[in-house]
Order: sequence, then C-alpha cells, then structure tokens
Amino acid sequence: MKTTKLVMLVMTIAVALFILIPNLSWAADDGATLYKAKCAMCHGPDAAGKPAMKAPSLISDEAKKASDADLTKAVTEKAKHPPAVKSLTPDQVKAVVTYVRSLQK
Ligand code: HEC
Repeated sequence: MKTTKLVMLVMTIAVALFILIPNLSWAADDGATLYKAKCAMCHGPDAAGKPAMKAPSLISDEAKKASDADLTKAVTEKAKHPPAVKSLTPDQVKAVVTYVRSLQK
C-alpha cells in the first residue's frame, strides 16, 4: 500500500514538471516576442530608443538603475504608451521587463 502511494507521488511530481518546464521557457520567448510586437517600433529593436518617436533608451544607465517596479509602472502608466501596451497582462509585462533586463546586459 505504502509503495503505491509513493509511486503515485513521484508520478504526480513528474507530470507537474512536464507541464511546468515548457511553460517556463515559453515565458522567456514571450518576452522577446512581445517586445518585438509591442515595443520595438518605438524603443528600437535593441531598446536603444528612437529619437524620431521620442522614445527613450531602455538600456541607458538610468534605465538600468530603475527597479523592476519602476519599469513595470512605466509600461502600464506612461501617457505616451498606446492602449496595446497599457493593456498587457501583469504576466506579459513581467516577461517584457525580464527581456529588457536581458538587453541591458
Ligand atoms: C507608441 C510608441 C511607444 C511604444 C509602442 C512603447 N513605448 Fe515606451 N515610451 C514611449 C515614450 C514616448 C516614452 C517616454 C514617455 C515619457 O517620458 O513621458 C516611453 C517610456 C518608456 C519607459 C520609461 C523610460 C524612462 O526612461 O522614463 C519604459 C520603461 C518603456 N517606455 C517601456 C516600454 C515597453 C516595455 C514597451 C512595450 C511593451 C513600450 N515601452 C512601448 C513610447 C512607446
């Protein structure tokens, strides 16, 4: 009886990992995809900013110093941001901020 329970537990963990791991890597891809779709036209593909769009660099020393909370707030609250940007879900904003951080390195 005890062994059966243990086997069930191991199986449950294995299944949970199978479901979780692809989701984690999707989240990373999502950030890049989202950035290209929703941010690159203004902030540039490398996030260096576009003077023509009056969009600041997101890889400046200033942006590097900003906290994740500051960046998150900027994405959802900047008056210059279009509805498509402001309406990103918290998960999507998180993914895009993580992607911007990876560009800052
Ligand atoms: C329509 C063009 C446009 C799009 C699309 C856009 N931005 Fe912006 N963004 C701006 C402009 C313009 C500012 C400066 C606004 C201001 O200072 O009031 C800005 C400011 C910011 C800031 C604050 C930077 C700072 O130094 O104050 C961050 C962070 C940011 N954007 C991130 C993003 C991200 C991430 C996306 C995609 C999800 C995005 N933006 C999409 C135009 C855009």
